[in-house]
Amino acid sequence: METLYSATKPTGKLTLGNYLGAIKNWKEMQDKYNSIFAVADLHALTINVDSKELEENIYTQFATFLAVGLDPEKSIIYCQSQVKEHAELAWIMNCFTYFGEASRMTQFKDHKAKDKVVSVGLFAYPMLMAGDILLYNTNVVPVGVDQMQHVEICRDIAIRFNARYGDTFVIPRGVVPKVGAKIMGLQNPLKKMAKSEDNENNVIYIEDDDNTIRKKFKRAVTDSLNQIKFGESQPGVSNLLVIYSCINKISIEEAQKHFEGCNYGTLKSETAESVIREIGPIRDKIKELKENRKYLDKMMKLGAEKARKIARETLNKVYKKVGLVLIEDK
Ligand code: TYM
Repeated sequence: METLYSATKPTGKLTLGNYLGAIKNWKEMQDKYNSIFAVADLHALTINVDSKELEENIYTQFATFLAVGLDPEKSIIYCQSQVKEHAELAWIMNCFTYFGEASRMTQFKDHKAKDKVVSVGLFAYPMLMAGDILLYNTNVVPVGVDQMQHVEICRDIAIRFNARYGDTFVIPRGVVPKVGAKIMGLQNPLKKMAKSEDNENNVIYIEDDDNTIRKKFKRAVTDSLNQIKFGESQPGVSNLLVIYSCINKISIEEAQKHFEGCNYGTLKSETAESVIREIGPIRDKIKELKENRKYLDKMMKLGAEKARKIARETLNKVYKKVGLVLIEDK
């Protein structure tokens, strides 16, 4: 069985974009792969995030993984910082990445263009992510479109390392869902729906209550063409069609057919109700799980222990290959 690895970064509340582009698909894939899912909390430190908020986000994301049905018996579910091998392999990754190629990462360039200061950690973010993937001999990395460039650089680093030291890393492949790989904002459908968003109406959070979801969809930007057609000329309508088709597991064509002759109000309200049906129970489960921190701590520990076994083995192999001395061998 091949190994699957993916993660989310706890820099804010998870969105419908994270859900449709990633987490929903993980649940469907976990039976077909040896699956490993992480809360990438070290990644969250690459931007300025409040410590209380970070702790809260870590628990919420971990609870979300369980609430959507990721199974800690079948899969490994853990927090990145609790497996110290991540920080160790990240250093090795840094030493095998060229400054030029890291400078070309679009997410870094975007931050650099708009943030007052950017940390060295933010620059090194793709190398930390590459280490995440490579520690577990990963074959498949399911992500949304925005993370594909990071999977690509991970592959480049692994290929480079293998070419120099012989077969060490499994070369992973990134996969994006056919539909839903880039859910756009509801107010600005030309921009990705993101956790770090100033305009709350642009984003559906997994934890939003039913009425908030209804209100946000009601306010969603469409256009004046008065037709429900998928295409570049109708980004708002297309985004709603994508959301509807992802949730109802039908093609865009089928979704379009379903709304034939309907007005935008119907498209918005039916999409809102589909979203509520799907994420409402998840939101309630998250709440319930978060009230039991002891259980979450226990599950985190279980996941970290399982993850560490694999991670240590890979890291020891890497240390030996580059010529470091493993004292435990002596
Ligand atoms: P993060 O937390 O930004 O996003 C988590 C996942 O959600 C996807 N995603 C979206 N998909 C569709 N539409 C959107 N609007 C949307 N927004 C986000 C992302 O593509 C991602 O799959 N660096 C990663 C976390 C990470 C990771 C890893 C992922 C750390 N190590 C190793 C894979 C493998 C991140 O910040 O994801």
